[in-house]
Amino acid sequence: MSKQKKLVVLTGAGMSVESGLATFRGAGGLWGEHRVEDVATPEAWYRDAKLVLDFYNYRRKELLSVKPNAGHIALAELEKDFNVQIITQNVDDLHERAGSTQVLHLHGELMKVRSTGPGEQVYDLTENNYETHLGDKCPYGYQLRPHIVWFGEAVPEMENAISLVEQADIFLIIGTSMQVYPAAGLIHYVKKDVPIYLIDPNEVGVHGRGIHVIKKGAGEGMKEFSKLVRQG
Ligand code: APR
Repeated sequence: MSKQKKLVVLTGAGMSVESGLATFRGAGGLWGEHRVEDVATPEAWYRDAKLVLDFYNYRRKELLSVKPNAGHIALAELEKDFNVQIITQNVDDLHERAGSTQVLHLHGELMKVRSTGPGEQVYDLTENNYETHLGDKCPYGYQLRPHIVWFGEAVPEMENAISLVEQADIFLIIGTSMQVYPAAGLIHYVKKDVPIYLIDPNEVGVHGRGIHVIKKGAGEGMKEFSKLVRQG
């Protein structure tokens, strides 16, 4: 059997819309009266850590109430025919729950926390124990914080993501407004002659060489994409 082609997929908040999770820049990018950006920064953490912890407790509760959608499932099914490597900006675990086995989280993971002490050890949360509060500490006595890359923080997985994109035989973008860097810059690492597809129901401002746009939501768009790539 010939070697499987490497399909590298960059996903964003739109991937999880059909599961019931809101995007950031569309309507619904608010949590109560707070802009999401105002509770997802190191400044917010120093100003009011309880508010930040409550925000992530709320988001975990919301995540635990939703399921992967047809788009997530179709991507997982493509592993039968392709070496699928997902790079997601999403902090949810819906790709994993759908069955995808190679998922790189650029912006961290909602179901994990990490120590604010040296070493920054990461710990898993569970369905039955998903909240973190002030005073919840790692075994070495340091407060736990969400394992999330906040606005203004470095993106430690960026080097790994770049190297995956450079290896792509096919590149697919789903449900991201491509406005947040450095993630949006990944498209520039796609090799010349590698086909680029984009699934989004709205206009996305990505410019450059021929991008095959599938102007649909993630579920319908993935149906069309799967058919196209399986035909080769
Ligand atoms: N299917 C696919 N895409 C959709 C759907 C859908 N059903 N509904 C909306 N979209 C698209 C929107 O048209 C938009 O282009 O999803 C995109 C969502 O864009 P953003 O809200 O900007 O989300 P994203 O690009 O993931 O944001 C990047 O910014 O807030 C930070 O760290 C956060 O990871 C996030 C990053």
